[in-house]
Amino acid sequence: MDAYRIIGGRKLQGTVAVSGSKNTALPIMAASLLVDGPVHLTNVPDVVDVSTLAAVLGRLGVAVERSEVDDERRSRMRLLADHNAQHVAPNHLVSRMRASFCVLGPLLARRGRAVVALPGGCNLGDRPVDLHLKGLAALGAEIQIQRGYVVARAKRLRGAEIQLAGVHGSTVTGTANVMMAATLAEGTTTIRGAAVEPEVVELGRYLSQLGANIEGMGTPTISVRGVSRLSGTNYEIAPDRIETATLLLAAAITGGDVTVTSARPDHLESVLKLFRTFGAEVSHDESALRLRMPQRPRPFHFVAEPYPGIPTDLQPLMLALSCIADGSSTIEDRVFPVRWRHAGELRRMGVHVHVDRCHSTIDGVERLVGAAVRSMDLRGGAALVLAGLAAQGETVVTNVAHIDRGYERFAQKLGHLGADIERVAVNSEYREPSHPTTRSRQVRERLADA
Ligand code: EPZ
Repeated sequence: MDAYRIIGGRKLQGTVAVSGSKNTALPIMAASLLVDGPVHLTNVPDVVDVSTLAAVLGRLGVAVERSEVDDERRSRMRLLADHNAQHVAPNHLVSRMRASFCVLGPLLARRGRAVVALPGGCNLGDRPVDLHLKGLAALGAEIQIQRGYVVARAKRLRGAEIQLAGVHGSTVTGTANVMMAATLAEGTTTIRGAAVEPEVVELGRYLSQLGANIEGMGTPTISVRGVSRLSGTNYEIAPDRIETATLLLAAAITGGDVTVTSARPDHLESVLKLFRTFGAEVSHDESALRLRMPQRPRPFHFVAEPYPGIPTDLQPLMLALSCIADGSSTIEDRVFPVRWRHAGELRRMGVHVHVDRCHSTIDGVERLVGAAVRSMDLRGGAALVLAGLAAQGETVVTNVAHIDRGYERFAQKLGHLGADIERVAVNSEYREPSHPTTRSRQVRERLADA
């Protein structure tokens, strides 16, 4: 099992380019199932979730070719679907990555049938797909659940009025699934309670470039007038807003000064406001952002909610920062109310975190102390790395396969900014250093002083 070994205490400084957005690339890749002819994508992030979806698409008759295209190692991808191929998305792949469920809408719309494994459980808590199925059924699909698979058929989807929001608000990939299906339906579909996240807006722009008829992108009411076919195009994947904020928070948690380029600051308005409330100096132009952190962060309070609010994907990362704030911070997550598994691991580094259902209260400490901690999911793992960057001594973050799912060259980028971080192999039960390390020496010294 791979781990990151971090020696904390170094201020991160310098400039780094952000990669393309994983959560933009995934539905856009799934949309290749709708298209007659090849599509060419650039700035596709080289992360495991993209590779997993490429494997799912391969099983569905989509030829996926990847190549590196420029010195920033921004990779290009060509996708060409054979619509006579089989229409089953297998469990062993879909269970690896929930967003594979986004192939359901396009398969139904273009081939009239789909068999897609129900995505399994996840470390963020319950993540049903009832809204996806409700939307597709409204378009006329016959849907059954058989032995863990969604079995769906539709001679021709028909436009409909759909209310897509659930108790936790809108659904990002649910909106993507239904919007993609509606592009080839007969007649007009109105999706109310649609997600307005940038990733959904990008998908809508991409589908329009393929020839779809979509209005209302970025608003809770999207209207799609079905067309008979969609044809290929070239498209550049937008920058990853969550990775951008992650890299800026690496500067914040180490008291550094970092500039992130090739970014979209307009996707981060509420986030930058929050960064300023804890004392960060933030400036930006239309494609780069700079964060300087001249002093210890002030405590802060926020609610994670759908866009344009603070994204739930930043909640773990903000919680890591709150661990060194000069006082008590509070966080509420209204999207994934039980997304707190990273809190237990951060406690091992010396901070007091109190979790009560969808709220957490964190009493910041002057310095975290390095420890062996375990990634439980993608953003929680990144949060542990940020905490390790700020901690005294050595931190080993295990299970970094979670982080590989959504951050391209994460350790390289942090190392480029001055972090002392290396990828190491550890045995599966790793919790304590099995070799003399700074941490063991510190423990021995502390015991000697006692
Ligand atoms: C997308 O997941 C993102 N993933 C997530 O990012 C992100 O955290 C999430 O949106 C919220 O912004 C991708 O885009 C691939 P939702 P998604 O459907 O679409 C409930 C990351 O780290 N819900 O918007 O699966 C659901 O339980 C990942 O990159 C239903 O009740 O999330 C949640 O409470 C993690 N029924 C809320 O809606 C449904 O049918 C929002 O979920 C669907 C969702």
